[in-house]
Amino acid sequence: MSAIQLGGGAIDADAYAPCAGRVAPPRAHLTSDAPRLDLCGEWDFELIVGESRRSGRMAVPAHWVLVGDGAWGRPAYTNVQYPFPVDPPHVPDANPTGVYRRGFVLPDSWADASGRVLLRLLGAESEARVVVNDVPIGMTRGSRLTREFDVTGVVRAGTNEVEITVRQWSPGSYVEDQDQWWLPGLFREVELLWRPAGGIDDVWLDADYDPATGRGSVRVEVVAPGAEVRVSVPELGLDVTLEPDAGVLTVDAGAVEPWSAESPRLYDASVATASETVSQRVGFRRTQIVDGCWLVNGRPVTWWGVNRHEVHHALGRVFDEDWARADLALMKSFNVNAIRTSHYPPHPRLLDLCDELGFYVMLENDYESHGFALDGWVDCPSTDPRWRDALLDRMRRTVERDKNHASVIAFSLGNEAYTGDNLAAMADWTRRRDPSRPIHYEGDHAAAYTDIYSRMYPTVDEVALVLDGRFGQVAAAGHAAARVSAEEAERIRTMPYFLCEYAHAMGTGPGGLSGYVDAMAHPRHAGGCVWEWRDHALDRLLPDGSRGLGYGGDFGEAVHDGTFVCDGLVSADSEPSAGLVAWANAVAPVVAVPGASGEIVVTSRLRLAAAFGLVIAWSAGARGEAHGELALAELAPEASVVVRPGVDEPDALTAWVLDPAVPGIAPRRPRSVAADGTALPPGVGEADELGRRVVSVRQFLREASSVAVAEPNGAGAPTSDTRASEALEIVSGLRPTLFRAPTDNDRGGRLSDAAAWADARLGLLEHRLADDRDGHRVWVSGVPSRQRRLTTTLDWAPRGAGLTVTASFEFTGDWPNLPRIGLTVPLPASAWDAARVTWTGLGPTENYPDMDEGVWLGTFTAGVEELWGTQIRPQEAGHRGRTRDVLLDGPGGRLQVRSGGDGLGFSLCRWTPQQLDAAAHVEELPASAVWWLTLDAAHAGIGTASCGPGTDPRYAVHPEATTLAFDIG
Ligand code: GAL
Repeated sequence: MSAIQLGGGAIDADAYAPCAGRVAPPRAHLTSDAPRLDLCGEWDFELIVGESRRSGRMAVPAHWVLVGDGAWGRPAYTNVQYPFPVDPPHVPDANPTGVYRRGFVLPDSWADASGRVLLRLLGAESEARVVVNDVPIGMTRGSRLTREFDVTGVVRAGTNEVEITVRQWSPGSYVEDQDQWWLPGLFREVELLWRPAGGIDDVWLDADYDPATGRGSVRVEVVAPGAEVRVSVPELGLDVTLEPDAGVLTVDAGAVEPWSAESPRLYDASVATASETVSQRVGFRRTQIVDGCWLVNGRPVTWWGVNRHEVHHALGRVFDEDWARADLALMKSFNVNAIRTSHYPPHPRLLDLCDELGFYVMLENDYESHGFALDGWVDCPSTDPRWRDALLDRMRRTVERDKNHASVIAFSLGNEAYTGDNLAAMADWTRRRDPSRPIHYEGDHAAAYTDIYSRMYPTVDEVALVLDGRFGQVAAAGHAAARVSAEEAERIRTMPYFLCEYAHAMGTGPGGLSGYVDAMAHPRHAGGCVWEWRDHALDRLLPDGSRGLGYGGDFGEAVHDGTFVCDGLVSADSEPSAGLVAWANAVAPVVAVPGASGEIVVTSRLRLAAAFGLVIAWSAGARGEAHGELALAELAPEASVVVRPGVDEPDALTAWVLDPAVPGIAPRRPRSVAADGTALPPGVGEADELGRRVVSVRQFLREASSVAVAEPNGAGAPTSDTRASEALEIVSGLRPTLFRAPTDNDRGGRLSDAAAWADARLGLLEHRLADDRDGHRVWVSGVPSRQRRLTTTLDWAPRGAGLTVTASFEFTGDWPNLPRIGLTVPLPASAWDAARVTWTGLGPTENYPDMDEGVWLGTFTAGVEELWGTQIRPQEAGHRGRTRDVLLDGPGGRLQVRSGGDGLGFSLCRWTPQQLDAAAHVEELPASAVWWLTLDAAHAGIGTASCGPGTDPRYAVHPEATTLAFDIG
């Protein structure tokens, strides 16, 4: 035991203890009419770091390191590693400590001796010690978990003083090693709660739905000592009165409409005693595992989910309800139906929003101790009995706080904390407390104490190992998950399978999604959650006084993990990535699949709710020569209907599902246009002119390369000799290129592609003009110090008023697999800055051979500046494949490149790959006076090697003879 000094006195607490002092038992976060005093706002603040002290004012809630651009210290990012020596439970003496003080006035009515007063902290990182009116109250650890202290008798009517001392590092930090920013402070509300005599201390309205009968019931568990309790759900005519201390009671609710993420039906309920009324919204639903399948309301559930960290680029983990609501709406726009609260409980209101908007939630406990892995998990808190109370306390606070939410259909014990008896004990406690919700923890590789077999970042082949009983093992050799016995493997194959993390969305990507999504059709596959929804980049002040976004290392951290904190499907400022569009289309709940004879089969992948009022938009021909719409009044869950737009045997038929009910985002990407100039629906997640959201798009192509390429709108053939001379100038400027600015995925993995390309010096390609005759040039290219050769032969001849060009690439020497084989030429920005680009090929978003789930073959138009999306760290982006035709039309002229087949890829970017590669942040890119037009004969896939499998070999570019033919003019 050690004595913890608390202002006016000491409280004894074990160094491993989760709390000390006048601690109230964990309970639900209730909406009550009992008085509450909000202590948020400005507090007096003193920051003590070693010998240094600074005083001022500090907002609550806030992280002090995010206030005043470094005035109070700076945020720090690490992934696995701890930023301090691993010497549990001790932390360094130089421990930033914030002392918060304020006064408050308690109303006279609160002095009523029959009631109690609780001081509630919703989030304090990482340890808080509370003193009220110079009386030591207590200590708590568990940053993202609520703690209540009983301050009855210490507070008084009239003026009071509260002091909360928050230490950035504490024993709690050892069990909060999540991959995220370390952000100390009182970052959620601080409040005082009046607890009237005869009031309601806790409520659990555990609402069940029986899919066989359509009836609901509520298991009522109320803690209201000595009080008669009335529970009512007026809409259902449910009104029961419980005798004082009646115990747990199950009440029949009669026929109800069930709650699901697909149809989030909630009923208003109230629980009242003579002195307090608690309001709740109740959703009737059943979550269960039957025959290895995870069911919600009797049907298998598939998680089209994301991992959600609670993070905002300016506020950190401070919760902003309006912003969070908008963020959930953005998820809905992109077909997200589920959230894992990685890796701690979010603000309690988030779960109200999930109930209301319809998301399945895996509520994860605030526990990770990943850094112990670096020393072989020695002394890991999961195995060390001294940590057991602290870990059980965390689990208990997680479950108790949020047990009322219909959206929470599973609990998770934590993340990346090895395995051990303490985790088993947490599971055991949770199961006894709530037998209805399945328990998840990915690190339980033998599935000894969890209900769901969970994995992160397996290959598609490993997914098959688990699902298909013919294989012995359940994981690739060498993976910790492979160290299970034959019996364990067999049992694992009787459990639901869940990808708690897959498709690492860092930088340009993720690539290779479709294999994962296809496998989710298996009845035992419950889907999973992409890692992750949002980049965690934080606002920062740049040296020139402007503001930008920063990642690990940008805040002066000695120990950090760089850009690994930026791995979301949306950027920190909520810009959706092309990878998100690809994923959203792959998992879309309703798809309209066109076929060879012109029919369109519309299928709902919803399991429980009908879809109403959908519209099927279609276009026929690669340029949308015909187009139209069909209305679909109702589509039953899991049903298919055939609709016929009346086009026979189309070469190309594209079908969009539009949903007028769920808003999409404003169209801001390149647009798809029909031959007659009509705007066709935009990409998935966006809304069309009528506000209808694109749920999905699917395309039938008879034979991709045989689809006729019509003349681009108004382009005609080049007509004058001037065009020919311009074309000649451009052809003369073309140089071979083999390099792309490595993506985060290219940089990932032990043997990274980026390292192989750097080793091969692909970015240092030098050229020598070996032959230069009329209409014929040969470039011999190589890299410093090596005998590798790339011989590029360019042949051209007049065609119309332009040129027809053939480029052939021949390799000698030992080249590695390449990111691309192409030609690049700078176009003066002065002539092309305001250009519109219209292309027929894959669009509207950037796409790569293994990242094409969100795109289709069509004609698209965009401003030239819209073709290259920014990542916080510049990297390859903006490629568009299978292009037949690209037209730049601007004040400076017109330039058209047309390929015979669909082997051409193009991109337009202000910077060279080398410039992109050299810039650590987007704002470091140099001023540029050109647009680089790059025409690719081949371009490699993206993969997810930043954390997970690399690019599938099918999408590699080999150093082999390649040709590229196009007309230019
Ligand atoms: C996982 C971990 C996440 C995150 C991810 C990589 O191992 O659970 O928290 O670190 O890797 O971004």
